[in-house]
Amino acid sequence: MKPEILQTTKLFGPTQERMEREFACLKLHEAADRATYLKEVAPRVRALATFGPAGADAKLMDALPKLEIISNFGVGVDAIDLDAAKQRKIIVTNTPDVLNDCVADTAMALTVNVMRRFPQAEVYLRAGLWAAKGGYPLTTSLGGKTMGILGLGRIGEAIAKRAQAFGMKIRYHNRRKKDVAYPYDAEPATLAKNSDVLMVVTPGGAETESLVNAKVLDALGPQGYLVNIARGSVVDEPVLLRYLQEKRIAGAGLDVFADEPRVPPAFFALENAVLLPHVGSATTETRTAMGNLQVDNLVAHFAGKPVLTRVV
Ligand code: 8YV
Repeated sequence: MKPEILQTTKLFGPTQERMEREFACLKLHEAADRATYLKEVAPRVRALATFGPAGADAKLMDALPKLEIISNFGVGVDAIDLDAAKQRKIIVTNTPDVLNDCVADTAMALTVNVMRRFPQAEVYLRAGLWAAKGGYPLTTSLGGKTMGILGLGRIGEAIAKRAQAFGMKIRYHNRRKKDVAYPYDAEPATLAKNSDVLMVVTPGGAETESLVNAKVLDALGPQGYLVNIARGSVVDEPVLLRYLQEKRIAGAGLDVFADEPRVPPAFFALENAVLLPHVGSATTETRTAMGNLQVDNLVAHFAGKPVLTRVV
């Protein structure tokens, strides 16, 4: 008999297919009555497969007393209560590295688009304004500018490499200085002050909640750009919205929002923002690799082997 996996949500197509080849999938998200279904399967469930924002809280863990492992689709595990998992000796795995390149590509696309205003320039052309009003207004070059990376981890390093190829200089802030050649700023606000583009790459969660606040945006200033490919929670969103409306920063490129998929409609009216619906890792290749890693962790666990990418 195949081991059983409880799913909290629908998985990416190829991941679902592979999951069903390896395991018997119990679909909590399809249950008519979640509580009744949970009660029914709880005595058997040893593994949970979850996905980004769906996460897993302590209540769900308590409802599953036999739970040994939570395998997440996504590198960010901010929606999983890691302390609760640790206390209950539940293993948590994620899908790092396989998405670094795609997320870094997205970070650069947002940087280019917010500084060069390519999306707005295309709208201008499509509206017939090129012929009617003349050339599109001049924009801002990337070359020679400084990108400040807030959270220089594996994705941050991939972004730094790309930004350097665009002729940008790199600085960074992490909680601790790393053994890297890039200049280090001890405070997020200092990094913002020293940067033309502040690139947010830190994990989400309580420790980084509103790390990018009014003080940091003031330091970034009216010529500075903010790009966020991390989590909406890292930026104080109402303050960011106001700073964009009042042009207290030059612009923002955002792939993530505080309450996804709900984006405050006031953002739609901004001409100095480029907005994406959390597509950082959203390619067929990367999502397939992420899904395979999610399944591989579960396969390893049920084979009695160490998991591949353990968070706690
Ligand atoms: C995914 C992400 O969109 O890996 C992450 O943490 O935010 C993205 O790659 C998300 O995980 C899908 O659940």
